[in-house]
Amino acid sequence: MINDAPLYLDHAATSTLRPEASAAMAAISEAGHGNASSQHGPARAAKNALEEAREQAAEIIGSDRPHDIVFTAGGTEADNLAVAGVALASDRREVVVSAVEHKAVLEAAASLERFGYRVTTVGVDSDAVVSPASVAASVSSDTAIVSVMAANNEIGTLEPITEIVAAVKDVDPLIPSPYGRGPGVRVRGDHGEGDRRRSHELVIAQVRWPERRRGSCM
Ligand SMILES: Cc1ncc(COP(=O)(O)O)c(C=O)c1O
Repeated sequence: MINDAPLYLDHAATSTLRPEASAAMAAISEAGHGNASSQHGPARAAKNALEEAREQAAEIIGSDRPHDIVFTAGGTEADNLAVAGVALASDRREVVVSAVEHKAVLEAAASLERFGYRVTTVGVDSDAVVSPASVAASVSSDTAIVSVMAANNEIGTLEPITEIVAAVKDVDPLIPSPYGRGPGVRVRGDHGEGDRRRSHELVIAQVRWPERRRGSCM
């Protein structure tokens, strides 16, 4: 406690909203009440706002395919879609996750065991870093998905996603890389400018999903 105010130490899990984001959300909730799937004026306005948000989200993660952006109601739903949804649509039967994935990812992966999928968990070092070599040793031609978080939601570790993508490229699995807080988080202090740039590269790696499987279920 400082001056009786609680000291908040959980910014890696969830942090304050930028004022611009808060203002944009307030404007939409006041004026953007149309059903984006209808035909009338307010509906078209809502649809335009949605498409604009899609383009902004694509730009943030370095994608030139805004129409591939799928909005979900929350992180757990996104994890289910990216892990269980994609695995169930694949003809491969193996899923690889890091030991430090969010519980929602681990449970989505575990739920696949019921359907006959093998789930392999890759360990981490004392800084919670996943080694690309360990991931490479865990994949096979039957690996549908490798899920490694880009930024750890508890201790902020940035995982070497670009290197992991390179290490498994022969197997060519889908690589959902949960980045719950990543795009909006400002990396400061000891991490320096270099790491900040790196975190943007990580997000770009996250959207390099193989062309041949586009449209299968996302
Ligand atoms: C990767 C990941 N999945 C799931 C969640 C949970 O999100 P929600 O409460 O929106 O379902 C979080 C939240 O920190 C997250 O970082």
